[in-house]
Amino acid sequence: MFQVKVPATTANLGPGFDCLGMALQLYNTITVKTDRSFHISLAGTYKEGLPEDESNLVWRTMCHFWDFIHFPVPSVDLTFHNEIPPARGLGSSSAAIVGGLAAANFLAGSPCSSFELLQLANEIEGHPDNVTPALYGGVTLSVPTEKGVLPRVLAQAPKLKAVVVIPDTHLNTKKARGILPPEVPRQDAVFNISHVSLLTEAFIREEYSLLKEGMCDKLHQTQRAALIPGLLETLEAALQAGAYGSALSGSGPTLLALVPNTSNLEVSSSMLDMLRKHDINAQAMLLDVDSKGTLADVVD
Ligand code: HSE
Repeated sequence: MFQVKVPATTANLGPGFDCLGMALQLYNTITVKTDRSFHISLAGTYKEGLPEDESNLVWRTMCHFWDFIHFPVPSVDLTFHNEIPPARGLGSSSAAIVGGLAAANFLAGSPCSSFELLQLANEIEGHPDNVTPALYGGVTLSVPTEKGVLPRVLAQAPKLKAVVVIPDTHLNTKKARGILPPEVPRQDAVFNISHVSLLTEAFIREEYSLLKEGMCDKLHQTQRAALIPGLLETLEAALQAGAYGSALSGSGPTLLALVPNTSNLEVSSSMLDMLRKHDINAQAMLLDVDSKGTLADVVD
């Protein structure tokens, strides 16, 4: 029997659209028992509504991997324990894909490297900003190159925590991407290039006072405010309450604030209060950054 543990992730971190991401200490776990008849069971806080048959995304990804490496599909008993809320901008689909690839790779004797798994995960997911931190942990940059996605870990264990405020509502990534215009004005491109550079410096030098400016964005957040009432006001409330920086988490609806390690509940309460003023109920979590990424291990 073995287990694969995959972290939740937050993507973009403001201006790093489809490039920057961070892994968080909130996990989905896949338990695999070999030489059993095929069976899938779901467990954990977020098991409702997910398929327990061959249409399950984790299982489909595992089969895709075995097909890719020409490995016969084994008969396995699988348990998926889900603690990452689905369709909220915390990388649940990336966790399913990365977890499925890592489990299938482990079962086949680990023929593929993390770099190769990343390329496969990116092809399935369509953008690398969640799958890279899910695989490698820490704060990551994904660079599209002619030879595939180049993963860079900017900070494996930054000295800060993440407040995630998760609204009750779901938001489909396709819808949240569909609202974005296909072209961007040159001055907005320049704004984001310069702000991603500042953000990168903030993480590498551990100068977190740069995050407030560094996490500003012109490419997607204001545009997505139409889908998430109170988005911009809540990001501002986080800053007023002492967050280093704040941003939409991935394509939303979850909102992210990066806070000092010593931070109390002030940032999350201010964010929840502001969302409530916009008639949105949400739950808040204070999470550490995951520095390990996806792990596969034999268990008793
Ligand atoms: N970079 C993607 C987006 C993240 O903002 O659409 C989706 O999780």
